[in-house]
Amino acid sequence: MAETELFSRDKIVGAITELSGKMRLPLAFIDMEGNYFTSGDDPRGQEESLHGDEHSLRRVPVYLGREMVGFVACGDGTAQGEAILNAAAVSLEMLFRLEKEIEDLSAEIVRVYEELSLIYSLSSKLGAELDIATICLQVVEEINRVLGVKTILLMLLDEKSGTLSIQYCTEKVRERVETMRVASSAEPFAQIFARKKCVVIPEGEAATGFPLPFKEALWVPLVTDNRNIGMLIAADKVNGKEFRSQEIKLIDALSGEIAAAIKKAQLYERIKKLFMSTVEALASAIDAKDPYTYGHSRRVAHISEAICRELGLPGEEIQFIELAALLHDIGKIGTPERILQKPGRLQPKEMEVIKEHPLQGAHILSTIDELQEVMAWIRQHHERYDGRGYPGKVTAEDIPLPARIIAIADSYDAMTSDRPYRKAMNPGKVMDIMDDLAGSQFDPHVFKAFKSVFLRRGARMTCEEDGVR
Ligand SMILES: [Fe+2]
Repeated sequence: MAETELFSRDKIVGAITELSGKMRLPLAFIDMEGNYFTSGDDPRGQEESLHGDEHSLRRVPVYLGREMVGFVACGDGTAQGEAILNAAAVSLEMLFRLEKEIEDLSAEIVRVYEELSLIYSLSSKLGAELDIATICLQVVEEINRVLGVKTILLMLLDEKSGTLSIQYCTEKVRERVETMRVASSAEPFAQIFARKKCVVIPEGEAATGFPLPFKEALWVPLVTDNRNIGMLIAADKVNGKEFRSQEIKLIDALSGEIAAAIKKAQLYERIKKLFMSTVEALASAIDAKDPYTYGHSRRVAHISEAICRELGLPGEEIQFIELAALLHDIGKIGTPERILQKPGRLQPKEMEVIKEHPLQGAHILSTIDELQEVMAWIRQHHERYDGRGYPGKVTAEDIPLPARIIAIADSYDAMTSDRPYRKAMNPGKVMDIMDDLAGSQFDPHVFKAFKSVFLRRGARMTCEEDGVR
């Protein structure tokens, strides 16, 4: 036994010194590689005086389980010396066994700690995450940290078509698998989905036509509420070793949590889409009150989005601003159609009625807690940068940025659309008019961003995206 295998030299010397002292006889331990461990009192001194040859030291083998790990030796050849050696061997065996148990236990503690830290790290990351792409990236990073594999694929199942498509894959295989579609009824998917358990598939056993060659791959079905939602495939460990059963058990245990997080994000995505289409339907209902402004809300939303991107606003904020832009004129639901559709100029009293729509819009949304910010932006979309707008005569940066963005998008689309009292104006002319109003009606910084978008897109400002006009 090499000294580094189980004990340090100091530990063995310490044990031998203690035994020598207790038994009042100099003892030595010789491991299987011939390394010699002894206390200060070397038994070879007595041996040499008896026989002159260290190989004739009295020796008794020492075992760890069934394996012989060395000898305990002394220079006393009497029956008493023999008895002492046997007792020393038993003591050393007990000591070695104890050390081995401690070492095994330590390794087990380290393994359990690593497992728990992976579970904790993944759970805390996935718990609050609702974006599918981010979830998949985090899952792959954490799993790769534990397994260390060359290739990972994460495929999600489309329930309607029954096909699996790639949601995430390792960069080097992207080109080969990115557009891959596999029926969930194809093997080995069908069998693994039926078993709902992790499987290790060695080379040659994968389904024919699976586009990635591998030596060994771990296939992990992602199951939540007893339904398969996808498959994670981790292939070929970087160190060339096989997957250990502990690793397989750990990934199997984690797969439920991963599947639940993905399912939750998919549901959130669906609810978000449903919500947005409801809002769009509502926006269409507003536009439908006035055939002249048909599609106005959607176009204002598109232009607002383009300005937001030009200003570099974060994605989540842009979504809310688009929502506010879609609903900016919701208060017109309460405005009489005879005023909205009146050909010719409005009387001052009729203008006052029209001017109520920002407050009415805010009132309609006031009961929805999640839309309190959106409500404030809608209330202020007719405020002017110089404080001469309505309803609050708020100035400059006191007007929320989303309201300043929507105001510009709204004005541009209104002037470039047909109205009961005038024809649509030429986009270039509208830009000239708006240019003069930057700093008075419009926030000059936001207008600059809008102008950059306009100069890139020209008159095709909105039709590029929505085809409404
Ligand atoms: Fe408005």
